[in-house]
Amino acid sequence: MRYLVTGGAGFIGSNFIRFLFNKYGDDAQVVNLDKLTYAGIRENLAEYEGKPNYRFLEGDIANPADVTEAYRGVDGNGTDVVVNFAAETHVDRSLMEAGTFIQTDVHGVLVLLEEARRHAPKLRRFVQISTDEVYGSIDDGSFSEGDPLNPRNPYSASKAGGDRMAYAYGQTYGLPVIVTRASNNFGPYQYPEKLIPLFVTNAMDDLPLPLYGDGKNVRDWLFVDDHCAAIDFLIEYGTNSETYNIGGGNERENREITYRILELLKKPESLIKPVGDRQGHDRRYSLDTRKLERLGFKCDTDFDAALERTVRWYVENEPWWRAIKERSAEFRAYYEKQYANR
Ligand code: NAD
Ligand code: TYD
Repeated sequence: MRYLVTGGAGFIGSNFIRFLFNKYGDDAQVVNLDKLTYAGIRENLAEYEGKPNYRFLEGDIANPADVTEAYRGVDGNGTDVVVNFAAETHVDRSLMEAGTFIQTDVHGVLVLLEEARRHAPKLRRFVQISTDEVYGSIDDGSFSEGDPLNPRNPYSASKAGGDRMAYAYGQTYGLPVIVTRASNNFGPYQYPEKLIPLFVTNAMDDLPLPLYGDGKNVRDWLFVDDHCAAIDFLIEYGTNSETYNIGGGNERENREITYRILELLKKPESLIKPVGDRQGHDRRYSLDTRKLERLGFKCDTDFDAALERTVRWYVENEPWWRAIKERSAEFRAYYEKQYANR
């Protein structure tokens, strides 16, 4: 199978490419189109550089020339499956500046879809990676795929735009589009701006853990390996024009996650620093995942074991995250702006 994976230098994309090579070996050919924004780290997949079935292409999904080149495949032989992970992904950053979110998460999807039309007869799947955040917040119960979208922040609004644009191109032009809406991922290689890697690495350095609001916001945590396996399953068994929720079934309050991280690292609870809440902070995300289960896939990784594995990964891979937290001027400027006066 010939894959075009966008955003493959980021957290989930790099895990997905590794998943493909582990599962399919040389039978998978992968082009990784990535703009290398602050969140893109090409070295995440250093072990595949130079292999004949892997090609890294630095480029922008919103740039038609880059996208045309990417669809040509590893050696000009074309693409069977597109999986679009490329996005601006951090809610807090979308509160500071939303323009790049619209440019990548909406317009970039459009450019990828326009190129897909030119490859339509041969293209087998176009998977748009969306998010549970497009449904908005829910106090009780869970969202199903047919529920109305109610994004409540600039990140989720832009993701909803890309989600519906992909669906619309499936309806209008008959493209083989599948939309997936996953819950909060965690695991190795997650950029240390997100809750779990930020708190793990701050705790390792005895720095404060800035817990927003009352710490009782709920997220459903999905181990990244389960997410990758679900996407691979849907490429094989999903139905075009359908949307699938992918949830971990692990709803936890942020403060519970925080206590568990401190426990695993044997650090004191005094590191927790309650700070001002995120503007428009969604209270709870929750997905009904029965559609995917009926098709035959269930996420089955044990949450506690996966969190422990993830914490261990950050402990054992200090150079990876120190390169970001200590040597990236961009990260330090962001951290200062986001947390200094909170
Ligand atoms: P990430 O921020 O770690 O990585 C994003 C990657 O996209 C980076 O490598 C970046 O360089 C690249 N990129 C950004 N703009 C680009 C552009 N214009 N052209 C090409 N590449 C570009 O993100 P992630 O957490 O791995 O998320 C991947 C996808 O999964 C996103 O679409 C996100 O919305 C979705 N998602 C994430 C989660 C989560 O919990 N992380 C949950 C559900 C859905
Ligand atoms: P995050 O990892 O940014 O993912 P998302 O906002 O997409 O769900 O945040 C997860 C939860 O953790 C969310 O409720 C906000 C909270 N949070 C904090 O309390 N402190 C922080 O420093 C961060 C980054 C997040």
